[in-house]
Amino acid sequence: MRRSHILRSVKKRFKCTMDSSVKRMKEGESVIDPKSTVGGGVADVYGEDRATEDQLVTPWTVSVASGYTLLRDPHHNKGLAFTERERDSHYLRGLLPPAVSTQELQEKKLMQSIRNYDVPLHKYMAMMDLEERNERLFYKLLINNVEELLPIVYTPTVGEACQKYGSIFKRPQGLYISLKEKGKILEVLKNWPERSIQVIVVTDGERILGLGDLGCQGMGIPVGKLALYTALGGVRPSACLPITIDVGTNNQKLLDDEFYIGLRQKRATGKEYYDLLEEFMAAVKQNYGEKVLVQFEDFANHNAFELLAKYKTSHLVFNDDIQGTASVVLAGLVASLKLLGGNLADHTFLFFGAGEAGTGIAELIALEISTKTNIPVEEARKKIWLVDSKGLIVSSRKESLQHFKKPWAHDHEPLSTLLDAVKAIKPSALIGTSGVGQTFTKDVVEAMAAINKKPLIMALSNPTTQAECTAEQAYTWTEGRAIFSSGSPFDPYEYNGKTFIPGQANNAYIFPGLGFGLVISGAIRVHDEMLLAASEALANQVTQEHYDKGMIYPPLTNIRKISAHIAANVAAKAYELGLATRLPRPADLVKYAESCMYTPNYRNYR
Ligand code: NAI
Repeated sequence: MRRSHILRSVKKRFKCTMDSSVKRMKEGESVIDPKSTVGGGVADVYGEDRATEDQLVTPWTVSVASGYTLLRDPHHNKGLAFTERERDSHYLRGLLPPAVSTQELQEKKLMQSIRNYDVPLHKYMAMMDLEERNERLFYKLLINNVEELLPIVYTPTVGEACQKYGSIFKRPQGLYISLKEKGKILEVLKNWPERSIQVIVVTDGERILGLGDLGCQGMGIPVGKLALYTALGGVRPSACLPITIDVGTNNQKLLDDEFYIGLRQKRATGKEYYDLLEEFMAAVKQNYGEKVLVQFEDFANHNAFELLAKYKTSHLVFNDDIQGTASVVLAGLVASLKLLGGNLADHTFLFFGAGEAGTGIAELIALEISTKTNIPVEEARKKIWLVDSKGLIVSSRKESLQHFKKPWAHDHEPLSTLLDAVKAIKPSALIGTSGVGQTFTKDVVEAMAAINKKPLIMALSNPTTQAECTAEQAYTWTEGRAIFSSGSPFDPYEYNGKTFIPGQANNAYIFPGLGFGLVISGAIRVHDEMLLAASEALANQVTQEHYDKGMIYPPLTNIRKISAHIAANVAAKAYELGLATRLPRPADLVKYAESCMYTPNYRNYR
């Protein structure tokens, strides 16, 4: 039900007290006394930001929600946590059993019941049910149990959920825009119940995680990513919009499945595809303005690069697979400098795998070196070497290389194996982005250990089976000297009486804070320097205590604090570059970010 319909049926008995509030809401203003907020909460109509935690809010729905309607409204429902007074004033008497609970007790109970499920997909479904029933409790669980629940609401479980999406979902989430809606996309956007959208995550379902084309069932990805935007980054749930663009699927199994929920046709490509995307991007800007962030998620490589290049100069767009990955890996490298010594420019980097991830990360490292040392990017690239399936990328191969590999073709004799490349280039850091497991062999890792006191080894390929080497191999083959991190998580490993905690280069460190920084500054474009700012903020959150355990990323349990720092750094860069529109610039951006963050604590109803 549309919240904009709220105003039509405000009940008589609330009329006097609400008239002024209604008028202010109509004008897009917060119904919370602006003088009593602490700087955050721009137009925080529903009381979602930290700034409103101690204030009385009105539970808006179709009317002032009361009784049965209030219990069925996930934005305002508190279940047994409605107080005696609220039960009286909101006509809840008899609709709830007598016990009055606290949110903490509800959290304890829900976590217990979720832990009772053995199958991760059942935990996922229990979480989704909770989100539909009681949104604040859902986020309370997610925020307070982030390490446990992240693999449930996001990868890997969300992948299975997408595969079975058609059969497990009871109610649609997000917006579906298919070829049927061509010419009507603006109208479709207007059907969404919320007006003040800040972040859209959109997929076309063509490359869902490592699972390939899941067509319309890719919706689980934008839904999951946006849950992380709220839980880890602090963007309000009401400001998040998941979208799936359905141009068909080439997955024959889905096309043959009588329960498939999407368009039953092969994928549209070329002009037909790009015309639909163009209409979508134009409609988004027309409906939500310049400041809405559109995050492209799990598009196939060819479209991902093209869409980013096409829209980055006209829209606020971000691609997590390309830019988020680069930023999180760069953060790990910057953090490891405390252990390795020197600056990035003092080190040499060797990539194994020269695709989307490898070249994207390499380019951001070159940009960081160039920014820090004032040398041209072309010069900075010479510190970085890449190996692909044909061996070291060198200038004699230039003619036959794909365009994105050409900048990395340096002068060197051709070398066909990784081991030869390690021995010749003598890198401080070896980064695996090949997608091929067990390619950092004992010889290769020992060669790294022979060259470096502390060899930096990043085995980024996912899933775990594709990791270039395991944590155990990296630590044992280097006699405990490796600084190791990976794309998929590895358990802590004990070597010679010391416990090492492998770092995980998880994109979830970066995108929620980066997106939140764009939102709170009202940025209108994403600039590469903002990615550098995000990396630096993340690297700065690694403390000596973490380094002592071999970690180059901080624990995810601190993610809200980390995100506030990333957001502040990104916002600062947006102001510096003249790309921020929320003026004047708040003096203390970390405090400002914290005050604007969504908090899931129940509010007291008048
Ligand atoms: P891609 O297909 O674009 O690139 C793969 C590259 O590896 C190509 O340059 C290819 O020539 C090279 N390659 C393949 N087999 C090889 C071999 N036997 N020897 C040498 N080179 C070989 O793939 P993309 O998107 O770059 O992903 C690569 C891997 O990185 C995937 O496993 C992905 O899961 C992982 N990744 C990890 C992330 C993270 O940790 N945060 C984020 C993004 C990707």
